[in-house]
Amino acid sequence: MDFNSFDISAEAPIEEPARQYYFIARCRRHVTDFFEKNHRYPTACVTTFGCQMNARDSEKLAGILRQAGYVLTEDENSDFVIFNTCTVRDNADQRVYGRLGELNGYKRRNPKMKIALCGCMMQEPDVIEKLKKSYSFVDLIFGTHNIYKFAELLCTSLETQGTIIDIWKDTDRIVEDLPVERKYPFKSGINIMFGCDNFCSYCIVPYVRGRERSREPKDILREIERLVDDGVAEVMLLGQNVNSYGKNLEVPVTFAQLLREVERIEGLRRIRFMTSHPKDLSDELIQVMKESKKICRHLHLPLQSGSTRILQRMNRRYTAEQYLELVRRIRREIPDIAITTDIIVGFPGETPEDLEQTIDMVRKVKFDNAFTFIYSRRTGTPAAAMEDQIPEAQVKEGFDRLLRVVQETAREQAAKHRGKIMEALIEEVNESTPGYVTGRLSNNMIVHIPGNERLIGKLLPVSLDECRGFYYIGHAVSGPKEN
Ligand code: SAH
Ligand code: SF4
Ligand code: F3S
Repeated sequence: MDFNSFDISAEAPIEEPARQYYFIARCRRHVTDFFEKNHRYPTACVTTFGCQMNARDSEKLAGILRQAGYVLTEDENSDFVIFNTCTVRDNADQRVYGRLGELNGYKRRNPKMKIALCGCMMQEPDVIEKLKKSYSFVDLIFGTHNIYKFAELLCTSLETQGTIIDIWKDTDRIVEDLPVERKYPFKSGINIMFGCDNFCSYCIVPYVRGRERSREPKDILREIERLVDDGVAEVMLLGQNVNSYGKNLEVPVTFAQLLREVERIEGLRRIRFMTSHPKDLSDELIQVMKESKKICRHLHLPLQSGSTRILQRMNRRYTAEQYLELVRRIRREIPDIAITTDIIVGFPGETPEDLEQTIDMVRKVKFDNAFTFIYSRRTGTPAAAMEDQIPEAQVKEGFDRLLRVVQETAREQAAKHRGKIMEALIEEVNESTPGYVTGRLSNNMIVHIPGNERLIGKLLPVSLDECRGFYYIGHAVSGPKEN
């Protein structure tokens, strides 16, 4: 795209993404002005909180900043800083407020600095009120539904004084073909759907991300083909509940059908996806995974609780028995699969017996890893209005007990692979052990092997020599296969 050829004195086009290209071109003029005044290009920093979907959104923000002419940096003491926020638990919010205080310090020394906030937290009216009252040094605030307008908002912010706030309640739009700046050259996330319609009773996501919308298969496939042409070996298909992908498309498609299509893309080596909701995981999907040569042997399948009574109150729409039966079916068909999960402790009304059932479930399933969270009360969700909230101090002991069992089973699961040879995608140089690089196995486990940065992005067979708790020390057993 040649942004210099745009006529930025003309009116902005109405259609997307042409409109955003126009505003990128207009931002470039401001960047040139900056360069002429300061003899350097302005710097920009994108800081991400929260999940993989936010990380992918941040790559789009960074793509626009890069195209506008900014120099991207990880230093928040820069000319433009944007926080892409998360609000899934209260501690995510608190971290943002804390870091904003630091930004204010930088801005006092660099008054021309622009501070922007976007993402899930901005979709909460209470947050906006608080920001207006106590964080008036923030220049630009927008939400999740209008993130595709970032170039336009950035441009407006550069051309005006005072805070710009633009929050939409919902959207049914998906804008394709905006610039992206990928964090890794060899792997990439791909949104296959946005929003969530599940309304688990504790969860804020459906309120801040809006209704579920799937991208057209052809747009997804085209994006992956381009990424593969650009050197990507592994893709992660992203959605809050990928198992319900495609239900609302004009021509409905199942997630399993989409995976079959992705599998056919030549040159693509590995496929991952996140997250699967147990209630929608079909036999068709298990079959596709079983037959696939590219889909990784890893399934993230959030359990949340091992008590059917609590699962009902969480509106998860499966019982503990159904979950266990599902896991058994998956393991029967795909014996080498790793299953990981999310668990919440301290949901309103959870008794010690409920927690026992969760711990029992961890022992039965033998999760390869589990993320454990203390329940966080989110304003506006049904669970927040439940009467029997449990004080956090009371939850701590049970949480620690669960964590110990989770770590025990994860260690046992990891140890099973000692001596095996598996394929690893080398992702980075190991910062703590000189002369080593870090790779990821199909089952999502980490292995450190001797090597240097030339191996990054390569898929190699490695021998898993020594299990150190949750990860391995190994070595490459032959030279890299040509991709
Ligand atoms: N869509 C995914 C999860 C997205 S949020 C799914 O349904 O599995 C990631 C995890 O955060 C959830 O699985 C849940 O374990 C946790 N979580 C969500 N809301 C929470 C809350 N209010 N308190 C504590 N943990 C929460
Ligand atoms: Fe939240 Fe449930 Fe949707 Fe996951 S499926 S994002 S936990 S409402
Ligand atoms: Fe957080 Fe939003 Fe993801 S609330 S977990 S960043 S969808």
